[in-house]
Amino acid sequence: MNQTTITTTGNNSFAHSSNNNWLSHSAKMWFLVTVFGQWVFAFYVAMFYGGASLEGDFAKWNKVMPHGYIAGDTIGNIAVGMHLLLALVVLIGGPLQLIPQIRKLAPRFHRINGRIYILTALVLSVGGLFMVWTRGVAGGDIGKYSISLNAILIIVFASLAVYFAIKRDIKTHRRWAIRLFIVMGGVWFFRIGLMLWLMIHQAPVGFDPKTFEGPFLTFLGFAQYLIPLAVAQLYFKASDSNNNQNKIIMSVALTLLTLAMAGGIFSASMGMWLPRI
Ligand code: HEM
Repeated sequence: MNQTTITTTGNNSFAHSSNNNWLSHSAKMWFLVTVFGQWVFAFYVAMFYGGASLEGDFAKWNKVMPHGYIAGDTIGNIAVGMHLLLALVVLIGGPLQLIPQIRKLAPRFHRINGRIYILTALVLSVGGLFMVWTRGVAGGDIGKYSISLNAILIIVFASLAVYFAIKRDIKTHRRWAIRLFIVMGGVWFFRIGLMLWLMIHQAPVGFDPKTFEGPFLTFLGFAQYLIPLAVAQLYFKASDSNNNQNKIIMSVALTLLTLAMAGGIFSASMGMWLPRI
């Protein structure tokens, strides 16, 4: 190998690794913003629903959830109460599973928290399906189908994440775990997506705020998990690829999406979650 070849190969590999760095920095930024936003949501769930429950004022749930507390329907009310408690468990514990330092330094914690997370995800989805099909949701029939598909994806992805962990295929396990984290965040993506839309338009465009139905909400009901899943797929492709251009495009796209999400988190926190506490 002559000197020129060595230099060229060296520069290429430098460019390749620096593009990998950009991609990994933009993914870290996305993750940090997501965790921050999910923990604000968790804080609201604990303070608003937890606070009302500790005071014994269950009727206060209905200020937000149209079908939250129904006097006399003990089983249904317990299902909603459990749903809120388990929501808190996954919102806090989920992100901890994806932090490499925790996986490396505390593998036992990763395994225990992982089992809790998977079990909670399954109970949340099955309980959520029970709530949807016995009590209904704001948003009509199409809302029932979109959230039900979300629950089915949670169940499928949780099973695949466990299957590949047992097979010790860690790369595939990691990818299914990331997809699971994304579909578990579906309801959160819905809220920040809606609040970003309202912040941009300063009015309920594309849906009727009284019935909570309309083309925009139909779109958002599916987009809340399908768009983040598609982005994750493109990210996996870019990180596997040797094409530097793909890595740069993905890194820029992820940064722009993260900025949009930060706008949605700001709007949801200031306009919806924090004022209710
Ligand atoms: C997996 C993560 C999930 C989290 C963190 C979560 C969180 C929540 C929270 C916080 C609420 C209260 C509403 C609010 O204050 O915004 C809620 C309500 C509800 N959730 Fe979930 N949820 C999850 C998954 C699901 C799934 C998969 C389903 C359905 C299959 C579902 C169905 C419902 C229903 C029906 C309500 C009541 C809505 C109403 O009465 O208007 N959830 N959820």
